[in-house]
Amino acid sequence: MRELGEVEKQTYTAGGMCVDGKIDVLRGWIAASDNIVFFGGAGVSTESGIPDFRSVDGLYNQQWDYPPETILSRTFFDRNPEEYYRFHHAKLVVDGVKPNRAHLRLAGLEREGKLKAVITQNIDGLHQAAGSKNVLELHGSILRAYCTKCRAPYPAERMNHCEGVPHCDVCGGIVRPDIVLYEEPLDQRVMERALDYIQNAEVLIIGGTSLGVYPAAGLIHYYRGSKLALVNLSETPYDRYADLVIHEKIGEVFSQV
Ligand code: OAD
Ligand code: ZN
Repeated sequence: MRELGEVEKQTYTAGGMCVDGKIDVLRGWIAASDNIVFFGGAGVSTESGIPDFRSVDGLYNQQWDYPPETILSRTFFDRNPEEYYRFHHAKLVVDGVKPNRAHLRLAGLEREGKLKAVITQNIDGLHQAAGSKNVLELHGSILRAYCTKCRAPYPAERMNHCEGVPHCDVCGGIVRPDIVLYEEPLDQRVMERALDYIQNAEVLIIGGTSLGVYPAAGLIHYYRGSKLALVNLSETPYDRYADLVIHEKIGEVFSQV
């Protein structure tokens, strides 16, 4: 995966309707459809108390010896697993967090047979904790771990609640999280399924993502319908592509639709 270039970051604002009016429109789309797909990112979990990456109080604006996007790269993990795990334990492992109103409503919509899939860039497992069944994790999950050498799977506990770097019982290799680090490719099968859902969706709701990390952000181009809602606190480079743009907290919006 890679970040969006500076020049590409030009944004456009969709104006017009007030927030309440826009939420009414979204509620109407949701009520009328049984083919909704959701695609989200870190902003979906901020209301659960997990900081996102690129907001002012996000992880990328906190002080570390290295920028987090460097720490979260494959080269860095291989060269400096001690520092990677210092960051992992301090910032990625968040105990006692609960799904918020956005996660819970999405799970409800799936149960009602209206939502086909949740496609997420998040690694926190909160959609599943809320009850969502069909969750496509583009960037993997911090709740799974495996040995880098012999591939033996490990319970997340072993990696998330240990001192320093966890090692494999079988071969002594370093145990790593089943997440996609910078410089690593995404799982092709997960990507293809995500693409398929988006291509065939009637309503696509994108929320809580800066849409700045590729290839995930590029999924938006595959949507062919006319009901694309973008629910994000800040502007994104894709606001002008959306049929409805709501700059509001996603939990707040989902509690009203
Ligand atoms: P970012 O931190 O880039 O973007 C989060 C977006 O959510 C920002 O645009 C915020 O304005 C918005 N936001 C925050 N709280 C919100 C709320 N309550 N309601 C609505 N919007 C809110 O996170 P991602 O786009 O997910 O990769 O970043 C993509 C990838 O970059 C992540 O998956 C991560 C990172 O490197 C890995 O960890 C593997
Ligand atoms: Zn091993």
